[in-house]
Amino acid sequence: MSRDRRPIVIGNWKMNGLGASGAELMATAEAAAGVSACDVMICPPATLLAGFAESAKGTSVAVGAQDCHPAESGAHTGDISAEMVADAGGRAVIVGHSERRADHGEGDELVRAKAEAAHRAGLTAIICVGETEHQRDSGDAESVVGEQLSGSLPQSITAENTIIAYEPVWAIGTGRTPTLEDIEAMHGFIRRVVSELRGDVSTGVRLLYGGSVKPGNAKDILNISDVDGALVGGASLKASDFSGIFSVFS
Ligand code: PGA
Repeated sequence: MSRDRRPIVIGNWKMNGLGASGAELMATAEAAAGVSACDVMICPPATLLAGFAESAKGTSVAVGAQDCHPAESGAHTGDISAEMVADAGGRAVIVGHSERRADHGEGDELVRAKAEAAHRAGLTAIICVGETEHQRDSGDAESVVGEQLSGSLPQSITAENTIIAYEPVWAIGTGRTPTLEDIEAMHGFIRRVVSELRGDVSTGVRLLYGGSVKPGNAKDILNISDVDGALVGGASLKASDFSGIFSVFS
């Protein structure tokens, strides 16, 4: 597999994981030690962030957060800032995940502010976009994703500080995935839009696919040109499943 960009496979644990889950982190780290051709990251819930970052020191697994507030600090009960994520040892933060867009009414402007906050704190922003099933069926997938990109990508993006994840909402946690042709077409479209919006940054920025990625379909999906890795939910919770995905790069 010849690649222009170094692939990365990121596990999004969502609201799953207790202290005992550190064992899965360590098993993941053990498996990742044998895989040199891609980066591996786990984004646990905020309660586990600092502990995971500490345990993962000296391994090839990086740790990130699932969300952050745009402000550096202040009266925002229950929120955490990008600076807190960095302070806890996180290297990246997911922003604009469709579950936050849907459950918390987050729009593009807020997602952009969160991505800017990530950059301010020296973190990589993992910016998520994706259409609903209705939008795809109506033929609007590209226009929806294009609009999300133009609204959510801050001026501050570089190839190093930003990763874009395409996650069709209808593929998340459902076991369904778009066809390989549809994934390839959307990734090509996203790269063209990023090029129009931010010029040269587009050739280096990594584009991940997310939505029901599993060991059984990882090879085909990760082989698509312009797919630079995966954002994995359910299958990242068990090291044996997760490693079955990133081992595609061993
Ligand atoms: P899934 O979730 O792999 O469980 O479909 C992906 C995601 O929401 O990031």
